[in-house]
Amino acid sequence: MQTGSAVAGMFSLEGRIAVVTGGATGIGAGITTVLAEAGATVVIADIDEASARRQVALLTGAGHSAGAVQVDLADEASIVRACEEVVDTFGDPWILVNNAGLQDRELLLESTASQWDRMNAVNARGPFLMTREIARVMAAAGEGGRIVNIASAALVGSVVRGLVAYTASKGAVLGMSQASAFELAEHKITVNTVLPGGVATPGAIAATGPVPEGPARRTPPLGRCEPRDIAAAVCFFATPAARYITNQVIAVDGGFTVS
Ligand SMILES: NC(=O)c1ccc[n+]([C@@H]2O[C@H](COP(=O)([O-])OP(=O)(O)OC[C@H]3O[C@@H](n4cnc5c(N)ncnc54)[C@H](O)[C@@H]3O)[C@@H](O)[C@H]2O)c1
Repeated sequence: MQTGSAVAGMFSLEGRIAVVTGGATGIGAGITTVLAEAGATVVIADIDEASARRQVALLTGAGHSAGAVQVDLADEASIVRACEEVVDTFGDPWILVNNAGLQDRELLLESTASQWDRMNAVNARGPFLMTREIARVMAAAGEGGRIVNIASAALVGSVVRGLVAYTASKGAVLGMSQASAFELAEHKITVNTVLPGGVATPGAIAATGPVPEGPARRTPPLGRCEPRDIAAAVCFFATPAARYITNQVIAVDGGFTVS
């Protein structure tokens, strides 16, 4: 039987380095807070330097270990440089959370290829390139690793009008999670996916496009969630306790699908 401290160790991220894309605000800020509280050194990889600095100050002010690198997920060279900077400045990451994403809406019949391309560049191609870069470092270190991808409950029907490109980009994230879970298993790197329900974040509130009408407007049985609710599922997948769990999907949506 495990002792209390052995169980605590299974859920501790002490000594681990976690890279969180889009960790400066919204759900990502919640993820950085919870991972830091679990003991990780958190590196925020975000395009918004000022907000990243604010979140780092909050974390370090609370006694946690945190830093930031600037990255544009739409730009391969920026991703390669940012991942090198993470390793040079903080050391080899053991956790990657692909969280950053755009949420702007465009009606299908009025949609443009440029919106599709932009959405998929940041939401799908960005996580693919981040995974490639960080998984290379994890594989070379030979100590396994944890990758958690943030998709969306849009994939289980929590949609509003205008989410065609967005939902497609999240479908790509889910497909990438499955295929990379298989390829990375030989390196003891797990890859899992979290599907958040609606969270009133800066990005969700500021998203442009048609009025958001549709099933996602209904309140799920457990009510609206907070960034911390999403972060709890991410944190579980990131712990040593989840070493035998890969290619799994958790919807953190307050029971949306039973309502
Ligand atoms: N908020 C919701 O209701 C909701 C629901 C389902 C899924 N999600 C997903 O959760 C994730 C976080 O959403 P959120 O609501 O916190 O978003 P948000 O817009 O509030 O925060 C996103 C963060 O990503 C950063 N970012 C944006 N573009 C970037 C780029 N090109 N390169 C690097 N960083 C970039 C932003 O600066 C910001 O810090 C997204 O993937 C989103 O699709 C959100």
